[in-house]
Amino acid sequence: MSDQRSLTLNENAKPIFELPVLSGTTGPDVIDVQELYKQTGMFTYDPGFTSTASCSSTITYIDGEAGILLYRGYPIEQLAEKCTFLEVCYLLLNSELPDNAQMQEFEEAITLHTMLHDQLSYFFKGFRRDAHPMAIMVAVVGALSSFYHDALDIKSKEDRDMSAVRLIAKVPTIVAMCHKYSIGLPFMYPQNKLSYVENFMRMMLGTPCDDFVPNPLLVRALDRILILHADHEQNASTSTVRLAGSSGANPYACITAGIACLWGAAHGGANEAVLNMLLEIGDISHIPAYIKKAKDKNDPFRLMGFGHRVYKHYDPRAKLMRATCHEVLTELGLHDDKIFKLALELERIALEDDYFIEKKLYPNVDFYSGIVFHALGIPTNMFTAMFAMGRTVGWIANWDEMIADPDQKIGRPRQLYTGATRRDVPAQHGTSI
Ligand code: CMC
Repeated sequence: MSDQRSLTLNENAKPIFELPVLSGTTGPDVIDVQELYKQTGMFTYDPGFTSTASCSSTITYIDGEAGILLYRGYPIEQLAEKCTFLEVCYLLLNSELPDNAQMQEFEEAITLHTMLHDQLSYFFKGFRRDAHPMAIMVAVVGALSSFYHDALDIKSKEDRDMSAVRLIAKVPTIVAMCHKYSIGLPFMYPQNKLSYVENFMRMMLGTPCDDFVPNPLLVRALDRILILHADHEQNASTSTVRLAGSSGANPYACITAGIACLWGAAHGGANEAVLNMLLEIGDISHIPAYIKKAKDKNDPFRLMGFGHRVYKHYDPRAKLMRATCHEVLTELGLHDDKIFKLALELERIALEDDYFIEKKLYPNVDFYSGIVFHALGIPTNMFTAMFAMGRTVGWIANWDEMIADPDQKIGRPRQLYTGATRRDVPAQHGTSI
């Protein structure tokens, strides 16, 4: 980063103050406003952070106009084609792709930590069977902090790495247990001989009565979905993790904050909302009425799985997910299934509609991931938990980067106050108590 240039803000053509301009390795420059309040007595106002960089980072780069997504400099398309999810985890955490020995060591560490402390299974039993899996997940991941006092010194790199391994290893086990609990089936213990994704699919979809035989194409599809969800720069949940972590909270508490934020329908909850919307539309003949609703300014209905805050071009993840979606539907012979035909028709119509074209509302990653999860037999209420499983590594990488930054400060935004100005409580108030 450099601060060679400065921005001069003018009033009546008279320069009143100068602000440094910082450049990253790629992407737009940023105006450094840290000294603005000192110089002017004013704050900047940017609800939703539409023009504000909240931190500097070396992890992920997005160019929303060009539809580019890079993890540590590598294009998402190449990572999705050539790497496994665990290799991508290693890359996000360590800045470089692993060699064979590094990968073997990392994979072994993850495999060795997939089991949960047995005491945690009692936690599940405190929930109603019909509790939303995200509610259970928030509680159980948060509870992990009570089990690992041995490695909670956030200033120690060794402890932070240990927490990263534990979270990446245990979150799939927790996700699968949330599902098994909700349908009343026994929990499945992890099996060390299986790969990360095979193991998850067995814990999620298998039962103790049968040998679970993973389908390689479906394993690869799920592995790719996890890669596509692994990180996405300073999105709402990652920013939440950073903000929670900035106070020195432990990593399990911070990741739990991220999971809670992800749950919302405008973020990770969208994949679940997509399927619910498709079920509500019900039939291809009803699509035009729903498109009309989505375009009506007076109707709050939005087409779930369309649009993105950052991508004003096709989301590169959606392009890859679309291909995966078709592979999975073909493999499972589902192209003629009613819900999938409906989804593909909705995609076709929205892509040709002037409203969606003008506003650059392309199908996003959640549109296709919802369809793939449904095809894999994962119930709708588990979709956001699946997203959380992929995103856990991105949250940890960002948390770790923030903690390791010597300039790190507690996050503390300011506000534009619009409430009542100072006033006195009426003299007669409360006299009857
Ligand atoms: N259906 C209909 N109209 C839409 C949609 C949609 N899905 N998305 C945006 N618009 C319209 C919106 O009404 C607005 O119109 P106008 O300019 O006339 O007021 C315009 O497009 C811009 O929308 P915005 O809400 O200002 O855009 P945003 O950047 O704040 O919102 C979004 C982005 C993703 C929240 C929004 O597009 C949305 O609600 N999409 C549906 C939910 C969804 O699929 N979310 C998943 C996002 S991708 C996963 C992730 O990374 O978390």
